[in-house]
Amino acid sequence: MVKLLGICGSPRKAATEYILTEALQAAAEIEGVTTQLLTLRGKKINFCLHCDRCVKNELDYCPTFDDDMRPVYQTFYEADAYLLASPVYNMGASGQIVTFLNRFRPTYTILKKDPNYFSRKVGGAIAIGGTRNGGQETALNVLLGFYYTHGILVVSGGLGIYHGAAIWSQDRKVEGAREDVTGVANARTIARRVAEAAIMLKSGKGLLNHETETIARR
Ligand SMILES: Cc1cc2nc3c(=O)[nH]c(=O)nc-3n(C[C@H](O)[C@H](O)[C@H](O)COP(=O)(O)O)c2cc1C
Repeated sequence: MVKLLGICGSPRKAATEYILTEALQAAAEIEGVTTQLLTLRGKKINFCLHCDRCVKNELDYCPTFDDDMRPVYQTFYEADAYLLASPVYNMGASGQIVTFLNRFRPTYTILKKDPNYFSRKVGGAIAIGGTRNGGQETALNVLLGFYYTHGILVVSGGLGIYHGAAIWSQDRKVEGAREDVTGVANARTIARRVAEAAIMLKSGKGLLNHETETIARR
């Protein structure tokens, strides 16, 4: 089984959560896929202070704040695949999801021990804007940056969907998002591609007869 974790970066139950739920349902139709939706709605997540206590103490969680991030770390580390979904805020991703992603500074501890820890996990991205061309693509790039910095393999949406699914909600929550039939279909497509890539990667892992190069060059 592969575990696909969908993370919803909207502070409300509206377009983003609807689209992500649709996408996860599409992925769950594939045999061997389990899905989980993690919403940031209502969660108290502090900003990363870059105190580096996690790094200095070699912890895989943040010891500075006992906030709603605490139980999330393990869930995140155990997943095989990710779908990051964010509303478009000022042509970027939401503050909620950016704050959440910044709190993964402790992954440095994991990557120090095993530089390939995330390299056989995959991720895709979804952005929902109130305007048709309101910055979905720039928001998607913010989300993909997290994958790149962790060595998580980025799954493209394929022909016409490129670096992620872009949805136009017309600022009308679920109702508006549902009317973007193409956007909904693209979100379902990228979710299925992410799930399929995760299955192939997990099942093909045993075929490697060498250790992946682990030396990081900066
Ligand atoms: C602070 C803020 C900034 C926003 N900036 C943009 C923007 O730059 N481009 C855009 O298309 N929509 C923008 N929107 C609209 C939301 O992206 C849109 O309504 C989206 O569907 C909200 O997702 P939700 O329904 O899941 O909350 C903004 C909304 C807020 C609250």
